[in-house]
Amino acid sequence: MEPPETFGVLFVCLGNICRSPTAEGVFRHLARQRGLDGQLRVDSAGTIGFHAGDRSDPRTLAAAAKRGLRWEHRSRQVTAADFEDFDLLVAMDRKNERDLRAMAPPGHRCEIVLFRSFDPTTSFAKSLDVPDPYFGGDAGFEEVLDLCERCGAALLDHLVAERALAPARPAV
Ligand code: 4NP
Repeated sequence: MEPPETFGVLFVCLGNICRSPTAEGVFRHLARQRGLDGQLRVDSAGTIGFHAGDRSDPRTLAAAAKRGLRWEHRSRQVTAADFEDFDLLVAMDRKNERDLRAMAPPGHRCEIVLFRSFDPTTSFAKSLDVPDPYFGGDAGFEEVLDLCERCGAALLDHLVAERALAPARPAV
């Protein structure tokens, strides 16, 4: 069991094989770099269970490996318990956010936010979504990584400022 004072962040997309595992992997890496990993519980899930049990998409893993990132995550669907177990559910796109709000049990305790609401360039961006790369080419997977790096860093800044998250050890 994790100590109860950890802050739980669940990244959510549709299938949990492309965008949300990338957000999870990047966010874990950034948190570790800043010495904040001990205060965070990080996971990812999909609004559908179609790929449940599958590893991340090979194109996702290949793009991540080029940036020195790897993970063992297996796809899983969001459950009712996630709305109690996590503090923050971070949706990759507006459809995911709508679906999460529709699934949320009454009186749930977590906050539901859009990942790109933390994007420092959002006012100039054409979309509030992390675009789904599944049916596209390799460039889409690079774009997902770029967005996860940018929004993940900003989300960490937000948690440090608003939730008093502080390094338990020096950043590496
Ligand atoms: P993800 O991408 O939501 O970023 O994991 C997708 C994965 C699978 C499907 C669509 C998007 N699908 O249609 O199976």
